[in-house]
This record gives sequence, C-alpha cells and structure tokens, in this order.
Amino acid sequence: MENIDWKNLPFGYMKTDYNVRCCYREGKWGELEISSSEYVMLHMAATSLHYGQEVFEGMKAFRGKDGKIRMFRCADNARRLINSGTYIRMATPPAELYTEAVRKAILLNERFVPPYESGAALYVRPLLIGSGAEVGVKPSSEYLFLVFVTPVGPYFKTGFNPVSVMITRDSDRAAPLGTGHIKVGGNYAASLPAAAEAQRLGYSTCLYLDAREKKYIDECGPANFFGIRDNTYITPKSRSILPSITNDSLMTLAKDMGIRVERRQVELSELDAFEEVGECGTAAVITPIGKIFDPQNGRTYDYGETAGPVSAKLYHALRSIQYGDTPDAYRWVTVVE
Ligand code: PLP
Ligand code: COI
Repeated sequence: MENIDWKNLPFGYMKTDYNVRCCYREGKWGELEISSSEYVMLHMAATSLHYGQEVFEGMKAFRGKDGKIRMFRCADNARRLINSGTYIRMATPPAELYTEAVRKAILLNERFVPPYESGAALYVRPLLIGSGAEVGVKPSSEYLFLVFVTPVGPYFKTGFNPVSVMITRDSDRAAPLGTGHIKVGGNYAASLPAAAEAQRLGYSTCLYLDAREKKYIDECGPANFFGIRDNTYITPKSRSILPSITNDSLMTLAKDMGIRVERRQVELSELDAFEEVGECGTAAVITPIGKIFDPQNGRTYDYGETAGPVSAKLYHALRSIQYGDTPDAYRWVTVVE
C-alpha cells in the first residue's frame, strides 16, 4: 500500500477491503460470508442495541522479516469470546469457526498488514452481537458474528514511553460480581466517565480500584496492571479483571527469565514499593507508567521518565515472538497462509 504512513499509524479505524460474517438462526450457524460493506443491517429491536448483548475480542497479526503473517494466541481469544458470550447467554461460534473467520479476514486484507520494519500491526476485531428482535429482557435467538481488521500503531501516542495515569474513585468499570471478567461492551461504556475525567486533567487513562473497598488495584484503562519489585512481577487478581492474554504471556516470559511471578490482590499502598509499573494488553502491548496521580491526597507516585529494565526486557521478548524473530517456544503463534 503505497499511500499508508505505516510508521505513524494511530490506534484507530481505517477502512480495509473485506470483513467476514456468519449468522446464527434457528439453532445453528450458517456459512461464513465475505462482505465489502462496512455496515450491518440490524433489526431496531435487536438485543445488542437495547440490552447490551454484545461481546468482542481484540487480537493482532504481525508481518515478520520473512514476509510471513503471524497471529498471536488466536485459540485463547476464541476461548475468551466463547466464555464472554456464554456468560451473557448468547449462542457462540465454535472455536474452529472463530479461527477460520479470523484467518480469512486477515488473508483477504493482506495488503493492510503493516510491513515488518514499521513496528505496526494488523488489529483484528471479532464481534458477536444479538441480532434478533426482543422487547422483554431476554437473550436473542439470532446472532451475528463478524470479524473486521484494521492496521494500527501504538494505543498510546507515546508508544513504549511512560504514560501518566490517574486513580479513580468516582465510578467503577465493573462490579465485584459483575461482568469485568468477560469482554462485554457494557464494561467499556461504564469506563468512559472515568477515562474522560482522567483525560480532561491531562492523564492518558485511569487506574481503577476494586469496586467494594477501593483498597486494591484493579485494571488500568483497557489493560491489566503490573508492578515490578525485587525481581518479582506482581499483577492483581480479581473476579472483576479481564484475564489478559498479554498478561498471561508476560507471566510466562517472566518466569522463564528467572523473575518471580505473583498474581494476587495488590493493595494501593504497595505503589510506594514498586520499582516499575505498567499496563499490558493487545492494544497497549506493554505501556510503562511513569506517574500515578491520586486525586484524594494530591500525591503523585513517580516511576521515572523511561521504561524500567524489566519492562523493557519483557516488551522485547514478547514483540520478538510476535514478529517471529525468536523461536515460538510456547506455540503462541500461527502462521496465516
Ligand atoms: N483489560 C481490558 C479491560 C481490556 O479491554 C483488555 C484488552 O483486550 C485487556 C485487559 C488486555 O487483554 P489482552 O491482553 O487479552 O488483549
Ligand atoms: C485490546 O487491547 O485489544 C482491547 O480490546 C482494548 C481496547 C482497544 C478496547
């Protein structure tokens, strides 16, 4: 693609050539269809529009030095979409259908997979929505599964440079026994006021605390949180946190590097003791956090202007597997062909 500025891509939507769709009707999934339309024709009483029967995924595909396209941990994203949809009583596509739709969507839009040198990636967005008409609050009997792709650069403009975040206590992203552990659209709606307030005050995003006591660290914007201390990678564990596939990968890589890993409740008071902190996710990759502002006492925790050594080591290890530069020891990568 001659006119795309691959090196300066934002994390945003760019039209690509095709998307892939499949409908669930009368108790079964139909055939995969290829569409060049960016629009969906939806009944005005569809359950996704009124009652939030909507789940999605976010994955990336990368072009290697060898020109091959690799997708990262597709099977894990398929499993998570199935878990998410099942929880809110949707019919979900079998993992094979999910994988085939993703594969097709990537291949049909091959010209949008950024070149190796650009450091950009093709973002893959699988979406499952209730498409059947209901007026009472109940699950739809019809569903649409759709996969589109779009080339993206870093989620935060700073890339691998530290961002500043602000602690929020004024609203919650997810309730203690709510839907934080699955990827439903409603969680993102609930996250908008805190994110908007943080951005209004000049922060990249907000740091959520646990909804019940505001004592433990929860998630950081649309990403998981981690801290590094005494050669230990520490990440919060809670039912309201989305189990991040990136975080899972980092825990595995950390162990392999001889770094201890703790996944447990993390008290806010522990922020003082961390040497490095960051957020991680498909979009965020690893984004180091340089400053955390607590509006309750006006305090700012400072972690420096550059990424710490452990975050940097993990970042490079993850990226080099994703781009196919180092052997795929954990079988996380599938070459798309
Ligand atoms: N937490 C939230 C709320 C997210 O939206 C995401 C993104 O998917 C993550 C964490 C990171 O998850 P993953 O690494 O699987 O992309
Ligand atoms: C991702 O990291 O893939 C996400 O889904 C985060 C956000 C863009 C919603």
